[in-house]
Parts: sequence; structure tokens; C-alpha cells
Amino acid sequence: MLSQGSVDVRAGVTAVAHPNIALVKYWGKRDESLALPVTGSLSVTLDIFATTTHVTLAPQASTDMITLNGDTAGGAAAERVQAFLDLVRRLAGRRERAVVESVNQVPTGAGLASSAAGFAALAAAAAAAYELDLDGRALSRLARRGSGSACRSVFGGFVQWHAGSGDGSAGDVSSFAEPVPVGPLDLVLVVAVTDAGSKKVPSREAMRHTVATSPLYRAWAQASATDLERMRDALARGDLPAIGAIAEGNALGMHAAMLAARPAVRYLSAGSLAVLDAVDALRADNVAAYATADAGPNVVVLCPRADADRVAETADAIDAVRSVHLARPGPGVRLQSEHPGGDER
Ligand code: PMV
Repeated sequence: MLSQGSVDVRAGVTAVAHPNIALVKYWGKRDESLALPVTGSLSVTLDIFATTTHVTLAPQASTDMITLNGDTAGGAAAERVQAFLDLVRRLAGRRERAVVESVNQVPTGAGLASSAAGFAALAAAAAAAYELDLDGRALSRLARRGSGSACRSVFGGFVQWHAGSGDGSAGDVSSFAEPVPVGPLDLVLVVAVTDAGSKKVPSREAMRHTVATSPLYRAWAQASATDLERMRDALARGDLPAIGAIAEGNALGMHAAMLAARPAVRYLSAGSLAVLDAVDALRADNVAAYATADAGPNVVVLCPRADADRVAETADAIDAVRSVHLARPGPGVRLQSEHPGGDER
């Protein structure tokens, strides 16, 4: 899958990854430093909004240099990438600094900046640049350390992230992502980008706060284990109404747990609720449309391909919806021979 055979690592390595949308969500860590989750989760990798990341080793440099969409990164974003590169260097037994150039295709201001695609691409490019030979499972464990949900973007299609068991290295080894089998399924994901809503709390902080203070968190985590089993069965059957119903229930349960935190974490805006209302109305009209939402006000609607245009038009007609994007299940992370700027290496 990620053979380095044809890649000349001296010229740097480019990797491309796509975001994923969880159908059974990840919300809460049992170990912060290793990014071990409380619950298992299951997602679909999208075919839109790719992140392309180029990593070149810079043996003469004394610090890492990081650019995001052409601008030099600083502050927390740069620190997070540096910490991740430190981890890769520790694993590889190397010391050289790196130049990281990352370009994200998400429309600016859409509030969909996905750390999942970003860290999946960075993990693949950095592992190859530092000549760490990792299989898909090991790469997913590495990506997990950058951002939990990134471990799922290592693979295409439908992907389960196993919570794993125990802490420390036992937990680390057992908490990985892998593709799950699916029956015939003609799924489209309609991404409805709404108004920015209230100020975004980073997911890392919000999940910590939910686990620590929400009386509903344990109930959601328990229900999630059942949701995961039922989701696997529904995927194997290719049963879209069941997949949608489980995904919607799991997502709204996660948001309910956040709303019950003290003080509440509220990501859903009036615009998000307007999309949820429209999805209910579509369903009342016999369209198998189901909604999910991550740590933000945007809503993703699952529906059969045959109904995608109708769902997209319905979402587009909502005042609070700024833009609508259609996605299908997409590929896992891959190395490529081109530099994100386009010049062949
Ligand atoms: O990977 P993180 O730490 O940004 O967390 C992502 C959490 C959700 O997107 C809300 C759910 C999920 O499973 O992707």
C-alpha cells in the first residue's frame, strides 16, 4: 500500500489523505498522552477535501519549518506538528529537522479544517521521509498520536478504530484502525456548511471536559459499544436506513452528552438545527436521509445516491447553509511523486 520502493526520500516525500466522517463517534480519551480512546469508533473516508503534505529532511536546519496553505505556521498548530515529528524521530532513531509543507483543499472559512486528513498525510509522509517502514496498522497507530480520528483516514472506505485494551504499550499496540467489510451500498454524503455559530472549542479540550463533567457521558459510551456492533452488521448488509439511523442516534447522543457537561459544550447552532429539521422532513417524505455532526455546526447528511440531488437542493435552500458539497467514500492515504506546488521531483 505505502511502498517506499519508488520514492526517493532525499527529494522529500508527498502524501495525500482525505478527511473521514464518523458514523459511530470517537469522543473521550482514556489515556491522553497515547491518544487511547474510551470507545471504539467507525467512519467513512471521503473523496473530497484532500490534504497534501510534503516532508523534506533538512539536516542543516536547527528547527522544523512548517507551512500550512503557504503560510508559515506558528503557535499551537506548529507545536503540535513539531511534537509529532519528535515522535517520528524517536521511533526512527534520527535527529534531522524537517520542512513540512501542507496544503488543504477545504474551502477557506468552511469550518471543516480536518485534523484527520492533516495528520494522516503527515504521518505517511514523515514516516517515509525518516525511512520508518510501517504497515497500514502501524501507520494508523502513528497517525492516532497526531489526532485520534486521523488513524481512520489511513484507510479508504469504511474504517473501524479499535479502542484496544489496557494502557501504556498494551493499549498503544491494540488501538489501531482497519477497514471493515461492506455490502452493496450506494452512499452519498451531503456536507452542509452552516454559519460558524458559537466560538469553536478545540475537540481535545471539549472531550476532556465532557468526560470529566457530563453525567450523560458514561451512558453515551455504553450505547456506543452497541452502536458499533449494530453498525458493523448494518454495513455488512448494506442496509442504509439502519446505518443512517444508528449514525444519527450516536451523533445526537454525543452532542447530548456535551450539552450536559458543566458548563455545556455546544457545537450545534440554529443553522445546524435547521438542517436537522430538513432531514426529518425529507424522511417523512420517504427519503432515506440521516444526519450526523462532528465538533462544529456543519451537518453531514447520509443518503442513497439516487436522492443526493434532492437532499443537496433541500440543504442549499436553508438560509444558514453557506455551501453544500457532495462526497462519496474515498481512498486511504497514499504517497505520490509530486510536490504539492506541482513541480515533479
Ligand atoms: O481527532 P480529534 O481529536 O479531532 O476528534 C474528533 C472527534 C469527532 O470528530 C467529533 C468524532 C470523530 O470520531 O471523528
